[in-house]
Amino acid sequence: MTAAAGVVLATRELPEPFETLKTDFDVRVLGFAPSEKELAALVPGVDALICLVDDPVTADVIHAADRLKIVASYAVGVNQIDRTAAAARNIWVTHTPNVLTDATADLTVGLLLALSRRIVEGDRMVRTGKFAGWAPDLLLGRDLKGKVFGIVGPGRIGRAVARRAKAFGMSVIATGRSPRIEGDPDDPPRVSFDELLRRSDVVSLHVPLTYETWRLFKSETFAKMKPGSFLINTSRGPVIDEVALVQALETGPIAGAALDVYENEPAITPALLDDDRVVLTPHAGSATVETRREMARMVVEDVRRVLTGEKPLRPAPPEKPAR
Ligand code: DGY
Repeated sequence: MTAAAGVVLATRELPEPFETLKTDFDVRVLGFAPSEKELAALVPGVDALICLVDDPVTADVIHAADRLKIVASYAVGVNQIDRTAAAARNIWVTHTPNVLTDATADLTVGLLLALSRRIVEGDRMVRTGKFAGWAPDLLLGRDLKGKVFGIVGPGRIGRAVARRAKAFGMSVIATGRSPRIEGDPDDPPRVSFDELLRRSDVVSLHVPLTYETWRLFKSETFAKMKPGSFLINTSRGPVIDEVALVQALETGPIAGAALDVYENEPAITPALLDDDRVVLTPHAGSATVETRREMARMVVEDVRRVLTGEKPLRPAPPEKPAR
């Protein structure tokens, strides 16, 4: 293949084997998070766009493109891309499913333990010189064994989290559209959304961001949660109304939250930063060396395929219209 067989615009450098694309294509790397306007100005003349979770590949960006064939999301989530606009122009949208399932499930468990055993609070206490020695009531947490773990969205990641929660002796229930896999003892029984909220000691979110899941957790939802329960979100920030979350922490019913994603990422509702019962991580679900490298491999493979006339291996599912 000769150089410049196509123009690839990547908003950021990616791990190996991203470099290998540069031998066969004219690869341009932005190196910063573009606004919608900047992206729209940059896409004319581009054949493949590689974007991150928060790059706004809106209908305006898609319409500004004149020869775009693929938008490859360096993520499993594709909510940052207007897939309807892309489909209307026969532009492939691809993503990186499966490979980040375990890494995200592992981080979810990390957040579960951080919440239930107050690990981050303990770290702060020690570092700030406030640890004055062992005491019977120092930093008491909660046992996990025997508690109910509720999964909202029992897809690939939700089921991987279910397996891990069971290993702690928790009983796991789930709500969501993914049908139960017959004969899989790790696939949790399904209950209604309201029953899950009422029964769960910990609720963990594993849904994509869609019209239906946007602010699924709002004041009315929090009001239905079990008193003293915890909420964990490693899916997408806008699934939670952060102002309602702050209220639910202040006046009940919930006792703590662990968030890896935010409603207006990277901005965070200030009250969450000041609350010791809240654990915060920087959208790091897939952040392991192995996983990120594998995600890069998938992106490179699909870009290469589409630019050489083949179908991609990992097209994203079509967008659901608003109801
Ligand atoms: C994804 O893949 O959607 C993650 O949020 C990125 O880490």
